[in-house]
Amino acid sequence: MGAIEVAEGIHWVGALDPDLRDFHGFEVEEGSTYNCYLVRGDKAVALVDTVNTEFMPQLLARVGELVDAADVDYIVVNHLEPDHAGGLLEAAAAFPNARVLCSAGAARAIPEFHGPDLAFTVVGPDDVIDLGGRTLRFLPMPMVHWPDSMFTYVAESRTLLPNDAFGQHICTEQRFADEVGVERILEAVDLYYANILMPLTGPISKAVEKLAAAGWELDVIAPSHGAIWRGEGVRTILGHYAELLAGGDDGSVVVAYATAWHSTESMAHLIADRLREAGVQVHVFDLRSDARSAVTRALLRARALVVGSATLHHAMLPDVAAYLQYIAGLKPAGKLGAAFGSYGWSSGATAQIRERMESIGFDMPLEDLQVKYRPLDSDLPAIDAWVESLIERVR
Ligand code: FEO
Repeated sequence: MGAIEVAEGIHWVGALDPDLRDFHGFEVEEGSTYNCYLVRGDKAVALVDTVNTEFMPQLLARVGELVDAADVDYIVVNHLEPDHAGGLLEAAAAFPNARVLCSAGAARAIPEFHGPDLAFTVVGPDDVIDLGGRTLRFLPMPMVHWPDSMFTYVAESRTLLPNDAFGQHICTEQRFADEVGVERILEAVDLYYANILMPLTGPISKAVEKLAAAGWELDVIAPSHGAIWRGEGVRTILGHYAELLAGGDDGSVVVAYATAWHSTESMAHLIADRLREAGVQVHVFDLRSDARSAVTRALLRARALVVGSATLHHAMLPDVAAYLQYIAGLKPAGKLGAAFGSYGWSSGATAQIRERMESIGFDMPLEDLQVKYRPLDSDLPAIDAWVESLIERVR
């Protein structure tokens, strides 16, 4: 698969990583792409972003299809995270005539990441890089996703290169969302947003406002991961982000559990069945086997997270602790929480779940639901009453 033109004068020259399954804790089921772009004008050429070091051969081969290495005049660093700038030093060596352009935030971090020898020039909103019939403009977008993050815009091609924003961890040979299927890509957007961007809603809201204020015409939004948005897809992804940023929920409940001898599992399914009977949408996950990224995607739009664990050594099971640790950094906001589980001769799991969920910020208005050993018919009235209380809160 070679370089692909994604807008007039702009080619995708990135890398495919179909085997990726773990992106710093985010379980990626469909691999990813590291997108970067070669922008060619009449008199100069710019490479916007690079890729992680191990994928640089793909990038260099694709750039080599289009230009000689000596003809690359600029390397734009939109973001310093290694999936986009891991190969920066290698690119600077491969394109010896290129000036490195970056944000003020990146200027502070480049020496810490890549040592003191890499020369660079800071660019910002007042700068225009003229490539000859094609220009580059820049907007710093701190914390979308790191302090160094920046959007680059090619006015003449009406194309935005926003790095992590609007992207998805998905790996296909098709480059455009409309080729892959917009619904599938939007699901991947939610997965990415929930597992990477959820705690950055404030900075992303500011970025979207800043983008609107810039008044840039957009025919193409080409992120650094996954599929590219063009035509009607531009409105689709901007509208989808507006919805994500508005927050709110769809009234659904996520039931996530780990069990020792199927008792807590039985409780989870009893709770889910009662919720469904009451017309509440439910997503059930076994934390021992289901991907935590999938649980978190469901949590993104849920009203409540109900977490269950058997008690082991007076504590919650390790898979439950690991999931709560995972979402602690993602800071899901405005959600209800509840804890349930079975125990034998001493309890402890639900108290730990409650403490952890409260520290994350969940509102936990219900008493914990606990069953000794196994949920028997005699326990059903208490379970039903507990679910009724949950439904009242959810509604
Ligand atoms: Fe895709 Fe924040 O790196």
